[in-house]
Amino acid sequence: MGSYQLHKSPHTGTSNTAHWRPPSTSQLPQTARAMLLAVLFSGASIAMGGYLMKASASSKQEATRRLIEAHQNLMAAPALAELDFDQALHGRDLFVGTCKACHGEQGTGVPGLGKDLTTSPAVASMSDAALLKLIAAGRPQGNPVPMPPKGGNDALSDSDMADLVAYVRGLQDPRRMPDLPAFVAAGPSEADKANALAAAGGDEELAAYIAHGAVIYAGSCSACHGKDARGVKGNGKDLIDNEFCKSLNDDDMLAFIKRGRDPGDPANTTGVGMPAKGGNPALKDDDILDVIEYLRSLRASSK
Ligand code: HEC
Ligand code: HEC
Repeated sequence: MGSYQLHKSPHTGTSNTAHWRPPSTSQLPQTARAMLLAVLFSGASIAMGGYLMKASASSKQEATRRLIEAHQNLMAAPALAELDFDQALHGRDLFVGTCKACHGEQGTGVPGLGKDLTTSPAVASMSDAALLKLIAAGRPQGNPVPMPPKGGNDALSDSDMADLVAYVRGLQDPRRMPDLPAFVAAGPSEADKANALAAAGGDEELAAYIAHGAVIYAGSCSACHGKDARGVKGNGKDLIDNEFCKSLNDDDMLAFIKRGRDPGDPANTTGVGMPAKGGNPALKDDDILDVIEYLRSLRASSK
C-alpha cells in the first residue's frame, strides 16, 4: 500500500507545487539548473508523498497492522499475571480432550484441520469475553473445516469454557503458564464401563476394549462425528445408521480409518475431508480396533 502511494505522489505533487519557485540559479549553466531543479522537486515530491501516505493510512489500516502484530506486541510487553494453576490445569485437560483433534496437543494446529492458536494474532487481540464467545459459537464457515460450537463438546459448562480461555492465554504466552504436571488421559468413566459391559453381554475382556474405544473416540472422533456418533453437520457423518460402515469388516474399516478420505476423493460425499486416523497420528491399530468395537456396540444398542 505504501509503495503504491509513493508511485502516485509525483503527480499529486505537481499541482500542489505549481507556485513554488526554486531559489534563483541564473548564474548556473542550463543543465546544472535543470538538475538542481529536479533534485529539489523530487525531494519535495517524496516529502509530499510521505505526507500523503501518512494522511491516507486510515485508522482501519492502522487497526489491521496492530491486529497483525498483536501477538508480537503481547510477547514484547511485560507478562501479565501467572494463570491460576487449577484453572490452567483443568483447561489443559479439557483442551486435550476436546480441541486436540484439530488444534494439536500443544495448540500449534493440525495441518488440514485447526489453526495454530499459540501465535494467533486474532486470539491475542481478543478480550477474554470475545474469546469465550468464539469458542462457544465455533466457526461454522471455518477454513479448511468448520469449527463446531464448543469444539463439538456440548457438555462444556460456562466454567469449563472460562478454564479453556485461561489455558489458551497460557498457550499464547508461556510466561504466564504455571508448571503443569504431564497430561494423564482419563480412563473410561464408570458409566462408560457399565455401558461397555452391557454391550459386551458381560464379557469383561470385550468390555474393556469397548470402554477404551469410547475414550479414544471422545478424544479423536467425536469433534466431527458427535458424542453418540450421530454426526455433526458440516464436520462428519452419522456412523450409526450408515450402510458404508455396516458393509465393512474390521480389517477394511481399520484400513479406511487409517487412510481417511480427501475432499477430492470421488467417494467423498460431503466435500469435507476425513483426516487419516481422524488427524491423530499417535493412534495405534489396537486403539482404532477398540474404536471400531465401540462403534459396533453403539450400533447394536441403537436398534
Ligand atoms: C473439528 C475441528 C476443530 C475443533 C474440534 C476445534 N477447532 Fe478451533 N478452529 C478450527 C478451525 C478450522 C479454525 C479456523 C477457522 C477459520 O478461521 O476459518 C479454528 C479456530 C479457532 C480459534 C480462532 C483462531 C484464530 O486465529 O482465528 C480458536 C480460539 C479456537 N479455534 C479454539 C478452539 C478450542 C478452545 C477448541 C476446543 C474447545 C477448538 N477450537 C476445537 C477447528 C476446530
Ligand atoms: C476433522 C473431522 C473428522 C474427524 C476428527 C474424524 N472424521 Fe471421520 N469423517 C469425517 C468426514 C467429513 C467424513 C465424510 C467424508 C465424505 O464426505 O465421504 C468422515 C467419514 C468417516 C467414515 C466413513 C463414513 C461414510 O459413510 O463414508 C468413518 C468410518 C469415519 N469417518 C470414522 C472416523 C473415526 C473412527 C474417527 C476417529 C478416529 C474419525 N472418523 C475422525 C470427518 C472426521
